[in-house]
Amino acid sequence: MIESIVAMQNTKSIKDIDIQDKRVLIRVDFNVPMDSEFNISDDSRIRETIPTINYCIDNGAKSIVLVSHLGRPVGKSINFSLKHILKRLERLLNRAVTFVESVENVQSALSLLPKGGIVLIENIRFYEGEENNDPELAKALAKLCDVYVNDAFGASHRKHASTYGIATYVQNKVSGLLLKKEIDSFSKALKNPLKPVLLIVGGSKVSSKLTLLINILDSVDKIIIGGAMSNTFLQAVGYDMQESLVEDALMGDAIDILRSAKSKGVKIYLPVDVVCTNDPKNPTDIKITPAQDVPQGMMSVDLGPATVKLFSEVIRSSETIIWNGPMGVYEVSQFSRGTFSLAHVLADTYAYSVIGGGDTADAIDKAGEKDNMSFTSTGGGASLELLEGKALPAFEVLEKRDQ
Ligand code: ADP
Ligand code: 3PG
Ligand code: MG
Repeated sequence: MIESIVAMQNTKSIKDIDIQDKRVLIRVDFNVPMDSEFNISDDSRIRETIPTINYCIDNGAKSIVLVSHLGRPVGKSINFSLKHILKRLERLLNRAVTFVESVENVQSALSLLPKGGIVLIENIRFYEGEENNDPELAKALAKLCDVYVNDAFGASHRKHASTYGIATYVQNKVSGLLLKKEIDSFSKALKNPLKPVLLIVGGSKVSSKLTLLINILDSVDKIIIGGAMSNTFLQAVGYDMQESLVEDALMGDAIDILRSAKSKGVKIYLPVDVVCTNDPKNPTDIKITPAQDVPQGMMSVDLGPATVKLFSEVIRSSETIIWNGPMGVYEVSQFSRGTFSLAHVLADTYAYSVIGGGDTADAIDKAGEKDNMSFTSTGGGASLELLEGKALPAFEVLEKRDQ
């Protein structure tokens, strides 16, 4: 795993080039967790890019164009608009930022701004070409800059037009300060990790994360599986998870992971009891049951108390702990206990703790334990792919330092 991290550390950073009077485009990851009224519950991903943006302003960039995605929209929808984060960005930067609805409008917006003007483009995933890595979109973005900076660590495992394709059409392509900070921190954490190494994995992005586990088996000693991720495993071993979020198509992969873990001596821990409800958003019925006994019509939304005890013991007997994905629907107070309890237990250990994922970081902050973790990454899926030993595509396309 460490070889790929060392290679990624060799990426040229914005500090290695001259940006005076250059038009800079920065791919950021402003995919922050928000509540139903679009209040940002954790702005770390915005905060963490401020040093790069300020660096560009302080070093005489002619213009700064910010590109990000938000969520996983299907077509255009106000629910996924980056307008919701504009005010927070302006406040954190202490500067005005011009919002533009489309890539086509950037040039005219920039022409009205003085030197150092900042433009934020609407959610780049509103373009079909983003996730398809369409060369036309990549070229259109490339035209807006002399220097391409990637500071979107959270999206660095995506081969999209703004994280990957664009680099083909720009000569100067470097990492931002966050991308560098993340890779240096992971290098420190994973170079010689104290053993046993425990991975805690959960959350709802099951399809993009479950298949990563097979390669991660070579890097860890134990894996706790919770959240929606565990439902697919429990269903795969024969339990009827009823209305729980289950990825039927991935049950075969789940079985492969369990088998492979056994042969490699990696221990896997699944919930033994769960909290179930009829409706996670407006619960009128809540039951704690063994994982085998999810009542008809209900869904599993949190770890049960016996599981919390079991998982706590696993945490206490580990020396390096990497956590990605909440253990339940932590946004709803009745279903936050599993996640919050594990956060408290983790905070009380002397283990080296690495937290990854927008929602996981938010959950740990809500549990009041943010400052008690060794290192919090802005990447969720990206940090898991790193753990898999993969070179992240966004790094691959950036310039390398001379050895
Ligand atoms: P991260 O942002 O940390 O990478 P994910 O985005 O994968 O994590 O998952 C976070 C989401 O998972 C939260 O919104 C949470 O409500 C949801 N979640 C966790 N457990 C369950 C569950 N059992 N059923 C449904 N959703 C769940
Ligand atoms: C994340 O939240 O992990 C990143 O913003 C990437 O989002 P994605 O999994 O939708 O590509
Ligand atoms: Mg998330």
